[in-house]
Amino acid sequence: MNKTIIVSNRLPLQVSIQENSLEISPSVGGLATGMKSVHSEGKGIWVGWSGIPENELSPELSQKVQQEIRKEKCVSVPLDNQDIEEYYEGFSNRALWPLFHYFMEYTNFEQQEWEAYKRVNEKFAKVVIDNLDDGDTVWVHDYQLLLLPQLIKDQKPNTTIGFFLHIPFPSYEIFRTFPWRQEILKGMLGSDLLGFHTYDYERHFLSSIKRILRLDVNFNEINYHDRMIKVDSFPMGIDYDKYRNAALKHHSDSLEKSDLRKRLEEHMIEDKKLILSIDRMDYTKGIPTRIKAFEFFLDTYPEYKEKVRLVMLAVPSRSNVPQYQKLKRETDELVGRINGKFATVSWTPIWYFYRSLPFEDLIDLYISSDVALITPIRDGMNLVAKEYVATRTQGNGVLVLSEMAGASKEMNEALLINPNSYEDFALNLKRALTMPLKEQETRMKFLQKRLKRYDVEKWANEFFKSLEETKQVRNTTITK
Ligand code: ADP
Ligand code: G6P
Repeated sequence: MNKTIIVSNRLPLQVSIQENSLEISPSVGGLATGMKSVHSEGKGIWVGWSGIPENELSPELSQKVQQEIRKEKCVSVPLDNQDIEEYYEGFSNRALWPLFHYFMEYTNFEQQEWEAYKRVNEKFAKVVIDNLDDGDTVWVHDYQLLLLPQLIKDQKPNTTIGFFLHIPFPSYEIFRTFPWRQEILKGMLGSDLLGFHTYDYERHFLSSIKRILRLDVNFNEINYHDRMIKVDSFPMGIDYDKYRNAALKHHSDSLEKSDLRKRLEEHMIEDKKLILSIDRMDYTKGIPTRIKAFEFFLDTYPEYKEKVRLVMLAVPSRSNVPQYQKLKRETDELVGRINGKFATVSWTPIWYFYRSLPFEDLIDLYISSDVALITPIRDGMNLVAKEYVATRTQGNGVLVLSEMAGASKEMNEALLINPNSYEDFALNLKRALTMPLKEQETRMKFLQKRLKRYDVEKWANEFFKSLEETKQVRNTTITK
């Protein structure tokens, strides 16, 4: 029976060593949380990095890691410290990530890191090929593995390969500055189907294909080495029922309330409004800009002092990369300054958590917040915005969402803002806080209906259906 091999840099679970024993925890990030549901339903395997440097493991522990993750239908690609430094922290997160998110000033192009990127993509290819049987389908994910499709195609030309990019594809004017632009595009073209979150990203990609590789593009098909490659947009959904059911359970009396939930409920009693933001600690998420805009809001509408609180959860991410360290320092400083400026004996305007929280706590935060403030400067999709909507089972709540998040394309009923404009931010936050219940419910109803219909399962099925069609086209061409 044919299987699907999912490949991504990070597996849905992370391994670490705590006092000589292995600890396994879920990974954070849209790719992992979204694909986890797809993977657990299917019969395939997931190839990726376990999150631990291979050279820090004894042969016995290394074997144990493989055994443990095998139970979750995962296979690990061993990466050593040098790979992690040069390929993951270096090329992936200091060259590709900032460039693709339009943070040109943060990009750092190093020849040695490019060599590491090629080397590690080859390591992934080897593990995939070792696990590949005839007729299997391979689904490669994200910017860390842009060369992988062609590496697999070279060795296994009959394998059907899909690729999905979870971050934006930048405009040609940005992408053309990249030193290895041709190699990257050619690597991606090893796929039979390339998927993006939005039509704009797809359009930017096709424009680079035409202008950099000078290939023929017919609508959304590329003719390359006598192969037809399809390009399309598939906005990623969430496991809607999982979030909705978890929220229903939390609302029911049978579940004992956590301490966090009790603290959050005190706000409702005191008639204070809770405003929530949840992000990985990443400069693309606009955390400092949000804090400064919140200060502007409190200065502009002082009647909200002691009446609102911003609960800001930032999950540690890529903390060895200098820009992330700088962001952490800047965030700490800003939160301190603003809390110092406005706090009274009974009120601090920002509650700031810098840690990862268990799923149950995330649900408590979602269901207790009157407003979700999701204001990235640039974001491929943003699943947090969708999760907030799915958990609003009582129909109230307002989503304030950045126009720069891919999710904004499907969430018109949210209050859409330009995250760089403090005025836009303050006006819409006020509008959210004063929105009549009826209007909240109407907006939520539309948002929920769309998210339920186009959930992550539907997203994956549409992708597979489209990938399957490319296979049929290839077979017909061969038999002709
Ligand atoms: P990104 O992929 O850039 O991190 P997304 O908003 O698309 O941004 O995805 C973030 C994912 O990580 C969401 O599914 C969210 O539920 C999850 N997540 C965020 N914070 C935490 C946390 N503290 N603990 C566990 N999961 C989290
Ligand atoms: C984003 C990326 C993913 C990545 C995740 C977490 O969602 O698109 O590829 O896995 O962030 O980042 P990390 O570097 O910890 O894997």
